[in-house]
Amino acid sequence: QNSDSRVLLQMYADAAKLYSHILLKTENGSQALKYLNNRDLNQDLIETFNIGYAPSNNDLLLQFFKGRNISEDVLKRSGLFAENQAGELFDRFRDRIMIPITDESGNIIAFSGRVLDKNASTAKYLNSPETPIFNKGKTLFNLNNAKKEIREKSNVILFEGFMDVISAYKAGVTNGVASMGTSLTDDQLYTLSRLTNQINVCYDGDDPGVEATYRALTQLNDDRFNYGVISIPDKMDPDEYIRSAGDEKFQNLTNNGVQTPISFILNYFKRNYNLNNEHDQLEFLNQSLREIVKLQSPVEIDMYVSRVADEMNVSKEAINKELDTLRRQIA
Ligand code: GTP
Ligand code: MN
Ligand code: MN
Ligand code: MN
Ligand code: MN
Repeated sequence: QNSDSRVLLQMYADAAKLYSHILLKTENGSQALKYLNNRDLNQDLIETFNIGYAPSNNDLLLQFFKGRNISEDVLKRSGLFAENQAGELFDRFRDRIMIPITDESGNIIAFSGRVLDKNASTAKYLNSPETPIFNKGKTLFNLNNAKKEIREKSNVILFEGFMDVISAYKAGVTNGVASMGTSLTDDQLYTLSRLTNQINVCYDGDDPGVEATYRALTQLNDDRFNYGVISIPDKMDPDEYIRSAGDEKFQNLTNNGVQTPISFILNYFKRNYNLNNEHDQLEFLNQSLREIVKLQSPVEIDMYVSRVADEMNVSKEAINKELDTLRRQIA
C-alpha cells in the first residue's frame, strides 16, 4: 500500500466521521435522521454501518480538509470532490444520506449517497468514482461484516440494494452482500469462492428484479458454486418485505424458502403464457424441457419431469421421450 492510498483511506475515514457527526449530533442532520428512523433504521444500525449525512453545502468537506497540507492532486484523486468549469473543486456529495462502502478489512474506500427526496431531479444513488483505493468490480458491500456468517452458514445471500443488505442485517440475516449495481465480476466470485460454494440470489420481487435474477442465473455458470433463489413476494424488495412481514418471516424465507434455479426458471417462463390455452401449454412445455434437459442429476431431472407432467397433465413417459429427442438434437 503506497503513501497515496494511506492518505486516501485516512480521508475517507475522516469524511465518514464528519458525516456521521452531522447526522447524529447536529440540527443539520435532523431531517436525514428522521428519514432513516422512518425507514426503521435505528441508532444502533446507523452506527454499525457508519451511516452519515452530507449537508447541502458546496464546500463543507473541502473546508474540512483545507489546512491539512493535502495536495490539490490528492484532493482530485480522492473522488470526494467534483470540479466545476473553472477548475474549482466542490463537494461531490451534497444533501445525501451517506452509506460508507468498505473493503474486506472494514476500511472505508467509497461512499454511496442517497437522496432524501424520491422525487429529486438527481439520481437516487450517487456512488464514488473509481479511485486508487476503490475498484467497483472488486468490492462487495458488507463483505467485512458478513464474512464470518457466510462461512458459518455456508452460503452467501446476494442482494440488489445496500438498503436490503442493511435491513436483512437488522433482521438477523447477516450473511448478505451486494455488488455495486452490476452483475458479479470474476474477482467478486473468486472472493466469495474462498468463503462458500452456495450463492443465494435475493433480488427485488418487482419485474426488473425478476429479470435480473434470470440473467444472473443464466450468466453465473461458474461451477465452483451452487445457486439458489429467494423470491420476495408481492413485488416487494427485501427491505420492504422485512418491514411489512417482520424479521421472523424473512428469516424463514431465507432459511427454508430457497428455490433451485430450475424451479425459479420454470416459474419465470410461466409468467409469459396463458396456460388455459393449448398452444401456450405446448410452448411452455417445450421451453421448460429445453431447460430441464440441461440438468445433470437424474434425480433432479425426474423431479422436474414429474412436476411438469403433473402441471400440464401429460404423462412422464411422453416427456421423457421428448427429452430423449432433445438430447439427440443437442448431441
Ligand atoms: P431504496 O429506494 O433506498 O430502498 O433503494 P433500493 O436499494 O430499493 O433501490 P433500487 O431497487 O431502485 O435499486 C437497487 C440498487 O441499484 C441500489 O441499491 C443502487 O445500488 C442501485 N441504484 C438504484 N438507483 C440508482 C441510481 O440512480 N444511480 C446508481 N448509480 N445506482 C442506483
Ligand atoms: Mn430494484
Ligand atoms: Mn429495491
Ligand atoms: Mn428499497
Ligand atoms: Mn406426480
